[in-house]
Amino acid sequence: MPAVSSGVRGAVITGWGTALPPKTLTNQDLADMGLDTNDEWIVERTGIRERHVGGTTAGLSAEAGRQALGMSGLDPATIDAVILATTTPDRTVPATSATVAHELGLRCGAFDLNAACSGFTYAMVVAHGLIATGAERLLVIGTDTLARITDWEDRNTAILFADGAGAVVVEAVDGRGELLSWDIDADGSAERYLYAEIGGFMKMEGKEVFRRAVRIMVDSAQKTMAAAGVEADDIALVVPHQANVRIIEAACSRLGVPMDRAAMVLDRTGNTSSASIPLALVDAIEHERVEQGDLVLLVGFGAGMTAASALIRWGGDSV
Ligand code: ACO
Repeated sequence: MPAVSSGVRGAVITGWGTALPPKTLTNQDLADMGLDTNDEWIVERTGIRERHVGGTTAGLSAEAGRQALGMSGLDPATIDAVILATTTPDRTVPATSATVAHELGLRCGAFDLNAACSGFTYAMVVAHGLIATGAERLLVIGTDTLARITDWEDRNTAILFADGAGAVVVEAVDGRGELLSWDIDADGSAERYLYAEIGGFMKMEGKEVFRRAVRIMVDSAQKTMAAAGVEADDIALVVPHQANVRIIEAACSRLGVPMDRAAMVLDRTGNTSSASIPLALVDAIEHERVEQGDLVLLVGFGAGMTAASALIRWGGDSV
């Protein structure tokens, strides 16, 4: 899998933001709604305690994107493109990213990218590719509103899925920048284990998704680490897709990365699909868990089944 060549024009993250709908649902709320479940089971089997639900993909994206742009201090007119990773666009047509760009006062390229819960990591790889071919400044957003495609009477899925958004601004820099290596993958033969028909609810074979998730996360992360010549001990922070704490524990254990080096927001957010990695990354940044020069490994998996990983040197390779 690709290691980014030292001759490539690179980029770094210069701003970030998040958005969660105000409405929260605790595990007890789900039981009170009549779902045949309980807090103890959900916490033990998934690590989730509560989740946020509500809002639109465009609305949450704009809120997170506005924060990221504000932090970067950039003139919105200078943004070259918005990449919105989402599985839940507000409409089939047009792309929700166009609405988001308009709401933010941007006039630039805009496109949606659907790689399910691997989407934000895919989008980061694509963003660095655009920078390598001449783009200067990009807004990369991961947003999902899974509550709209969740059957709240199905305890198999209703305990897991939720809504949220995370965004970063990525700017070109001299030198190789932050992205050291990456991997993206998809196996369409596994689509039957996790899917939603157009207009339908998420259907999932949880045990099979669990089994495959651990395997493909580890496989993708190992390819990316090998491409950069990096060992598990070198990784300061893993930012895994927030689906189930047991999946994260199993993947970290196989990778040889202790759990205290994993970013975690799952207990408060549930599975927010494309938003989960940026939400966890921003939470880690805000808790001062990331320093200049640290190696940060983003690694996700999702419906498809997709997997993706990206190894980032925080602040760029010149620090
Ligand atoms: N509440 C209470 N009891 C439950 C629930 C529930 N919500 N669900 C199942 N049970 C019961 C079962 O009936 C079973 O009872 P039994 O032993 O008497 O038969 C028992 O609990 C165990 O059920 P399992 O299905 O074996 O539970 P498991 O440990 O596999 O956990 C879960 C289920 C949480 C869904 C797990 O399989 C999982 O997390 N899978 C991965 C899901 C995932 O990550 N999906 C997102 C992918 S990313 C994307 O693209 C959106």
